Amino acid sequence: MKLVTSVAGMKALARQWRKDGETIGLVPTMGYLHEGHLSLVRESKKRCDVTVVSIFVNPTQFGPNEDFKKYPRDLAKDSAYLERAGVDGLFCPDAAEVYPPGYRTYVEVDGLGDKLCGRSRPGHFRGVATVVLKLFDIVGPDLAFFGAKDAQQVLIIRRMAADLDLDVEVVTCPLVREADGLALSSRNAYLSAEERKAALALSTSLRWAEKAVRAGERDAGRLVAGIRSILEAEPLARVDYVAAVDPETLEPVSELRGEVLVALAAYFGTTRLIDNTRVRV
Ligand code: PAJ
Repeated sequence: MKLVTSVAGMKALARQWRKDGETIGLVPTMGYLHEGHLSLVRESKKRCDVTVVSIFVNPTQFGPNEDFKKYPRDLAKDSAYLERAGVDGLFCPDAAEVYPPGYRTYVEVDGLGDKLCGRSRPGHFRGVATVVLKLFDIVGPDLAFFGAKDAQQVLIIRRMAADLDLDVEVVTCPLVREADGLALSSRNAYLSAEERKAALALSTSLRWAEKAVRAGERDAGRLVAGIRSILEAEPLARVDYVAAVDPETLEPVSELRGEVLVALAAYFGTTRLIDNTRVRV
């Protein structure tokens, strides 16, 4: 596995691969890797000749009062993990390499970045879209892999790729959960034992919602209220949002019809976790 820290070095490596006729898969991450990340790596290895993983804790997607400084980092462990997984290139630039002094250019995906998670994290998706566009430009992947865990994120990346005519296929991979249902996340490392237990309310409430839809529930308001009441019954949970939305526009729906994205976020202590499911009627 080649370890690259400079933009110029990554561009040169990718250029060489393309010259050799290799197709390139990119898996963008912020590190502190888990099985969810690994599932993206495996999909990339299946579908591309070479796989590049980026590890970059992107400062522009964190708000001033968020966890940028304390975001978990363990490059030695991550890099051993990726080596074992058979990754070809690990790109881990530092912040000054990605955003040198004088940096002023940002990407805004209008009308999608301010909904759901964007409401409590203003500017978050602008930072995400910006860094992902830069990574696409630096690596020039044929395919790029994202997790359905971050449903709004992958929708925004897809929209950006389509709108800017990017030559990259954005692949969405399924959400990976712990055996007990908790969605894998690097931020789970912040949870105390009690919070970890309480956080199960997230997936439990979504399983309840899926069951309610299967049993014939067609009213989105009632579904959202039911999820909320499960979360609110958990004393350690503080709900940020619960929403049933159109998966393409993220506009709330009133009737459950066709494909609906049910998404939520809640705090456990200071840790904000997200989860979602898609229901099809
Ligand atoms: P990060 O949170 O490290 O996630 C990297 C990728 O792994 C994302 O595509 C995310 O959706 C996926 N992922 C995380 N947990 C997952 C799970 N339980 N199941 C399936 N996929 C999962 O998302 C980011 O980093 C950043 O915003 C990034 C796209 C790298 C831009 O900075």
